[in-house]
Formats: sequence, C-alpha cells, structure tokens
Amino acid sequence: MCGIVGYIGKADVTNTILEALSRLEYRGYDSAGIAVLNGKGVEIRKRVGKLKILAEAVRRQPMKSGHVGIGHTRWATHGEPSEINAHPHTDCSHALAVVHNGIIENYAELKAQLVANGHTFRSQTDTEVIAHLVEELAKHTPLDRAFRQALKQLKGSYAVCLLSKQDPHRIFGARNGSPLIVGIGDGEAFFASDVPAVLEHTRRVVYLNDFEVVELSASGPTLTSLDGKPIKHTVVTVRWDVASARKEGFPHFMLKEIHEQPTAIEQTLLNRLDDVKGAITFDRRTKTFLDKLPADEKFIIISCGTAYHAGLVGEYMLEEFARIPVTVDLASEFRYRGPMLDRGITVIAITQSGETADTLAGIRLAKQHGSKVLAICNVMGSSISREADAVLYTHAGPEIAVASTKAYTAQITALMLLTLYLAKRRKRLPAAQWRLLVDGLAKLPRTVQRALESEDAIKAVAAKYASARNFYYLGRRYNYPSALEGALKLKEICPLIHAEGYAAGEMKHGPISLIRKGWPIVFLAPQSPVYEKVISNIEEVRARKGECIVIASEGDEHIARYADSLITIPKTDEFFSPIVAAIPLQLFAYYVADANGCDIDQPPNLAKSVTVE
Ligand code: M6R
Repeated sequence: MCGIVGYIGKADVTNTILEALSRLEYRGYDSAGIAVLNGKGVEIRKRVGKLKILAEAVRRQPMKSGHVGIGHTRWATHGEPSEINAHPHTDCSHALAVVHNGIIENYAELKAQLVANGHTFRSQTDTEVIAHLVEELAKHTPLDRAFRQALKQLKGSYAVCLLSKQDPHRIFGARNGSPLIVGIGDGEAFFASDVPAVLEHTRRVVYLNDFEVVELSASGPTLTSLDGKPIKHTVVTVRWDVASARKEGFPHFMLKEIHEQPTAIEQTLLNRLDDVKGAITFDRRTKTFLDKLPADEKFIIISCGTAYHAGLVGEYMLEEFARIPVTVDLASEFRYRGPMLDRGITVIAITQSGETADTLAGIRLAKQHGSKVLAICNVMGSSISREADAVLYTHAGPEIAVASTKAYTAQITALMLLTLYLAKRRKRLPAAQWRLLVDGLAKLPRTVQRALESEDAIKAVAAKYASARNFYYLGRRYNYPSALEGALKLKEICPLIHAEGYAAGEMKHGPISLIRKGWPIVFLAPQSPVYEKVISNIEEVRARKGECIVIASEGDEHIARYADSLITIPKTDEFFSPIVAAIPLQLFAYYVADANGCDIDQPPNLAKSVTVE
C-alpha cells in the first residue's frame, strides 16, 4: 500500500509534496516523510503517525528546500511504524533518497551482500536495500544505469522514486506490480501512486507499465526499459477534476462519497443505457468480448472485501436473469484453491482500485489457463484494467475514503447492465420484464437520491444504538450480500464494534445462540419473494428479545409492528434493492462511527488499496 510522490518544478517543493501526499493518505498513514534537494544535499524529515504531524513539523522548522523532492505516506509491511522505518531511506553517504511502495522479497539476501561490502543499514525495512544497492552500483556507472541495474536485481513488487544530489535536475522512478503514474504540468512534473495526488496541478498523466523506468525532469518524462532502450509513452487527459479529490464541505470523504452515489450511478449508466430505445450498449472492445461468449460460457467472479459483496449480488442477478452459471470467489482463496479454469470460463474481476494484489494474481492465473478476463474497475490505467481482455468501467470518480461506498453501488450498477445485456442477447427475458427492469435502472439515480433523503432519520436510529458493541446484519437472497456489506462497513470504520453479516435463514443453524436482550440486529426486509421468510426470522429474534432495526420498503405498514426501529427505503423491484438498501447501511455505519468519535476516513490498520498479499 503506501502512497508515493515525486515533484520537480518551480513551486515550493515541500508544500507541493505535502499537499499531494494528503490526497494519497488513504493508502496508508502510520508514518510519513519527505526528502528534498536543498542545493547542498538531501534534506529529510519524517514523523510517525499521520501526515498532519509531519506537516506540523515542517511548518515549525521549514526545510531549506529547492525544487526537487519525494514524499511517502506509509502502511507498514517490514518493520514497525517508527521514524527510522519511515521513508524516505538513504544510502550510507546520504547522497540519495528513495521512497517505495511494495515488497522487495529478496531484500534479506541483498542486504547481506551489501553489509558484507561495508554498507550500514539503519532501518528494518526492505526498502533501504534499494538506496544502498544504487549507491553500490553507482560507484562504477552513472546514476541512471545504476538505478536500472539495481531494479533488475529486485524480486517482488515496487513503485519507487529516487533522487540524488549527484543529479539535481532529475528524479528517477519505476514500477513493477505497484501503481505509479507521471503527471505532466506546466514547467513541472510529478510522480504519484494515484491520479488524485496531481489533480490540483494537472489532468495530463502517463500510466506507467511494469518494468518501465522514468527519468523525470521539469519538462516531462523520458521512458526506457530496464535495459535502457527508449520507450514511447502516451499522455492521457483524465476525466476526474480537482473537486473530486477534495471534501467539498463534507466532514469526511466517506459522507461525501455516500452522497455522490446518484451521480456515480448516473455516470456508470451514461452512454450505455438508452431507456427510450430500450437498449444497452458497451464500448467496442467490451461489446465484442461479450458478443463472442459461447452459449455455454461459465462465469467465475473474483474480488475482495466490498467488491466481493458486489460480486455476490452479481451472482444472483446473472443466474436469475441471464441464466449463466456463476460462482463467486474471494480472490485470495481463488488463487490458491486450484480452480478449474479453461477456455470456457470467463473470470470477472471486480475491483475499485484495479490494483488489489489478490485480484490481480487471480486474473493472471485465469489467463495462464486460457480463461478470458473481464474487469469491472473504477480506475483507468490500473494494472487490472490493463491486463483484462475487456473492461466495464464504473465511472464513480475517485474514491478516497477507506470504506468503499460509491464504488460498491457503481459495481452493482455495472453488473445490472451486464446482466440485462446478456439476458436480452440470450433471449432469457420476456419483453415486459425487460422493460420494467430497464425503466427501473434508468430511474435508479433518482431512487438513490430519495433514499439519501432519509439521512436524518437514519442518523437518529444510529444515535440510539451507538453504544452497542455487537451487531448482526441479516438478509436473504439479493440482500444477503447487503447484510455482509452492512456489517463490513460498520466494523471497518468503527473498530470498537464487532458486526457480523449472515444469511437470515442460517441463524437457526448456530448464530441465534448469541442473541441476548437488547442485542441489535439489522434486518434487510424490502419487498421481495422472501419477504415473509424474513418476517419469520425477525420473529425468531424477537422471541429471544433481540432489538430489531428493520430496513423495509416505503409504504410497508405491516412490518412496523416487528421493528424496534424502522428505516424505510424507496420501494423497488428486488433487483434494485441491494443498491437502495446500501444507502441506509452506509449512513448507519457512518453515524454510529461518528457518534463513537472514530477516525472514519482512516480507520486503524487499514489502507484503501491492498497491493500486498
Ligand atoms: O480496490 P478493490 O475494490 O479491489 O478493493 C477491495 C477491498 O480491499 C475493498 O473493497 C475493502 O474491503 C474496502 N475497504 C471495504 O470498504
């Protein structure tokens, strides 16, 4: 995980880097550091804890900065969070500094060789070997070659930036398995782990590929291979704007992103759904991919965390309406369970970041066995979007809060488009039902907007249960994944609370034994073919004096008598209910966490993008 930044240009380098790092803090926040060339040499400042602690240290004692610098915000892998282990790391002579995101798997072996050659290490990190290795190699060859030679010796994953007082007009960068982009501004240039870091300055970016090495000057990048061969690059203008990387008046990114869901869904439907004509279309590559699928194709959906829950919803939809056999796997299990893969299988990888290590490894495994890969992804230029055979982008905009919200509902929206497209192509849906679902999909942004209007009511329910420390979330069919997602949202952002999602029908097979008087249970009970079954499950819990918080469809007067607290959502076909029900689940988690004083956007021990195993 970790966020890295490099800057070269005319602006104040420390402020520019600190500001860019603040857009990447979602990637890790247990320590932060910055290195600048100050005319005499490399000046470094590091602090344990969040970026604001480093920013305060720099404010109190400004760095004598020039116009070249690198910065890092860390999510520890090797070595505890401490000032010594915080990046940037330097060589013995303190002439160069590196920041790194990833894991150098052969660092122990390299370190032993370097120590034998007289190098002295200060930290317990894997990253420090890069600094010493470049120092060692640069004794015999120019810095750029030394950098490339060092990279060739590294095993594992890296996005790395290096600056040196020997070469004060360039920063070097490279990637292998961890994200790194170049931002090209007006007389200034950046390295960054992700686009939001550079949006204040430019929307012109270069997405780097693995094993590309960049020499970055203020006028832009020069790319080579590890062997020094020139590589042409493409500059892309990103759609995201500056506002999308700011809180825009909301107290947390999570709340802002919850409120952005009508737009995220609308953008995901844009140019794909034509409700007037009753047509769904995709970009040429994705359409060709889908149209070529044989009638007996099977799908395996792989994903992690919230994206896994979206995948579970996808399984219900694709099987019910497109009649395609689907299995859903946690990517971290899929890659190690020896899955039966062949040409007749399409692996659908669902991922917000497009960089999740397990999901990436899963699609590589699928491709090795001849399976096809479709990605549902939010980040253009990400590793998964580039390695997949086709991509169905969710246009949710940058998601900064660690807790995924708008990416989740955009992923389900993309799965709805996919389901309806395939269902129609395979003639699985009667015209009347197709029309009903297409109309519902077109209305979905407004329906979600209406669900958001219950925010105050949801906040009041959250206040009532904020002191509880255990929650169950129960649902059936399409809202079984909703139960899992609701519980994940709460425990993720409110680490004081244990929450568990379950299929409501499974309660009597074990978990019901835990129910005690006053234990809150969130029930998902919108209108559906299993509505009566859910009511029976509510009865079972009430009989044991559990406290029932029920999420039900507007106008359902019958259910009020079963609920200690009732939250209503707009009435929809069950097909849309996982998206509509996600709104109160997210807001409930948000307000419970807020009432408990939790660090909502940056919960302890978590990072947004899990680029390590
Ligand atoms: O970027 P991805 O969608 O691949 O990330 C997958 C999970 O790490 C992610 O959904 C995680 O569970 C979220 N923090 C949940 O809110």
